[in-house]
Amino acid sequence: MQDKVTVKDFQRMKEDKEKITMLTSYTYPIAKIVDDAGIDSILVGDSLGMTILGHNNTLKVTLENTIMLTQAVSRAVNRALLIGDLPFGTYGINPSETARNAHKLVKEGNAEAVKLEGGRERIEDIKKIIRIGIPVLGHIGLTPTYVNIFGGFKVQGREEKQAQILLEDAQLLEEAGVFAIVLESIPWKLAKKITESLTIPTIGIGAGEYCDGQVLVIDDILGLNFQVKPKFIKQYVDIKEIISNAVKKYHEEVKSGSFPTEKQRYD
Ligand code: KIV
Repeated sequence: MQDKVTVKDFQRMKEDKEKITMLTSYTYPIAKIVDDAGIDSILVGDSLGMTILGHNNTLKVTLENTIMLTQAVSRAVNRALLIGDLPFGTYGINPSETARNAHKLVKEGNAEAVKLEGGRERIEDIKKIIRIGIPVLGHIGLTPTYVNIFGGFKVQGREEKQAQILLEDAQLLEEAGVFAIVLESIPWKLAKKITESLTIPTIGIGAGEYCDGQVLVIDDILGLNFQVKPKFIKQYVDIKEIISNAVKKYHEEVKSGSFPTEKQRYD
C-alpha cells in the first residue's frame, strides 16, 4: 500500500506538478474499490442528496446523512484523504455553530477534512474550523447550494465582473487557510488564471485541464446518473446496463426455474 495521503501531499503535488485525483464515494464497497485503485482523495459530497437519496438538488441533505455515509466510507479507506462535505445550513449562520458541525463530521464521521461552499462570505466560518484543527477545502464557482440564487445549474464567471469576484474569492480563501479549492463549472481560462495566482492547489470539476487536480461524482463516471448530465462529465463505463442485464437474467431464471440449482442448495 502506498502512504496515506494528507493535506501536505496536496501541496507537494501542486509544487511537483503532479495532478491530484479526487472522486466522490458514499458507500463502503464503492469507496473500497476507489481507494484500492489509488485515488488520492475521496469526497463524501453533498451530491449524495441526488445520487443516493434521489432529490433533485443538494439542499435537503442533513449532517446526519453525511455523517452516516462518511462513517461507512471511512471503514473502507486506507490511503485516500477522506473529505466530508458540510451540507447546506450547517455553515454560514454562525461560525461557532459551523465549527461544531465540522467537529461532528470529523469526530463521528471520521472525516479528515471538511469542504464547504462559498467565497468571501465564508471566511469567518473557515477560520473558526481551522482554528480547532480541521483542514478545510474551499469550493467556488457553480456552488450547488446556491442553485436558487443562480436560477439553475449554470456556468459561473463568464462575465468579467463575476470572474474578478471569483478570482478575489479564491485569493481570500487561500489567505483564510484552506488547503485547496474546488473550482466548479467556470470557464477554463478563468480556472487557469485562478490556479496560477494561488500557491494552494485547485481541484476542477467542469473547469478545464489547467487545474492542479480533478474531481468527479463517481456515479457520473460509472454511468449511474439518472439526473442532470453536465457537459464536463466523462462516463467511463455503463454500470446501469450491466446491473440491468444481471437483474433481468436473475428475474428470468427464477421465473423459469433455472435458478437455484443443486449447486446453490444445502444438503
Ligand atoms: O457534492 C459534491 O459531490 C461536490 C463535488 C462535485 C465537488 O461538491
